[in-house]
Amino acid sequence: MTVRPPEHERRLIDNRNGVSPAVDGEASHKPWSVDVASSVGPSAGRVALVSGGNRGLGLQLVRALVDVGMQVVMASRSVENGYAAIELLGDRANQVAVLQLDITNPASVGRVASWLRLRLGRCDVLVNNAAILIDDDDDALAIDLDVVWRTLETNLLGSWRLSQAIAPMMRDHRYGRIVNVSSRLASLNSMQRGLAAYRVSKCGINALTRMLADELAGDRILVNACCPGPVHVEDAASGSLPRLSASPDTPVWLATLPDGGPTGGFFCERQRVSW
Ligand SMILES: NC(=O)c1ccc[n+]([C@@H]2O[C@H](COP(=O)([O-])OP(=O)(O)OC[C@H]3O[C@@H](n4cnc5c(N)ncnc54)[C@H](OP(=O)(O)O)[C@@H]3O)[C@@H](O)[C@H]2O)c1
Repeated sequence: MTVRPPEHERRLIDNRNGVSPAVDGEASHKPWSVDVASSVGPSAGRVALVSGGNRGLGLQLVRALVDVGMQVVMASRSVENGYAAIELLGDRANQVAVLQLDITNPASVGRVASWLRLRLGRCDVLVNNAAILIDDDDDALAIDLDVVWRTLETNLLGSWRLSQAIAPMMRDHRYGRIVNVSSRLASLNSMQRGLAAYRVSKCGINALTRMLADELAGDRILVNACCPGPVHVEDAASGSLPRLSASPDTPVWLATLPDGGPTGGFFCERQRVSW
């Protein structure tokens, strides 16, 4: 697969226009040959889907999952941003496909699931990374509930919707790892005021994690939540604010857990943390 797919391939994966692999007539063509059985190492040849994979932690996750041998679908709300991001991956781009995905849009989620089913026949790893933080740091009593609604729509319902679409494929293969990127800010043990919408949305993701882990326990599918970390303060040019960047280490560790590994847990820096 080329770094920038040819035009027909780009049409196929530009999900916004409703181009479906089922109607394209090329459904049998696969960008990669997926052969998990003959691959070396527990993660080699596995197919991973990363929501919000075009920047920030998502882009780091795409890079790190390629490095452990996976073939990665970088799901990007804007397909142009996805193509721009893939240019940053060098040779790793050969193991990455870009799909348009807006997790708040049921049709978009459905098209990604169809593409994976028809083109690759599987999705072994789902990283629910996409999220927004649009709080003005108002307290729960003062916050505009529209901010809460929009945050829940993306961070909770979007990830929930994507999990509903992808988990059946994992069940078919009796293998799966779902990693829900949460935050220590959602810990009920240390819950306090501020960032009310974001905190509640990540509490919801944590609850969803427990439920999915229980529902999928009999299918060799491990479901865990994590706070990505450690968080680094990146060097800032003089005069600008330092930027926080989270490490992909814990989510990648959860994405590559061996069978029998933990499920239904909340982890930070590979350690269990309290809900
Ligand atoms: N950074 C940290 O220090 C930190 C700490 C704890 C937890 N986290 C969690 O880690 C994850 C990634 O954080 P980040 O700092 O990398 O965030 P980020 O830089 O703001 O990136 C967020 C990503 O999510 C995508 N996204 C937002 N809404 C979407 C939608 N409706 N459909 C599909 N994609 C959507 C964005 O797409 P666009 O590019 O189109 O906007 C972007 O790719 C989040 O779940 C966040 O809560 C981060």
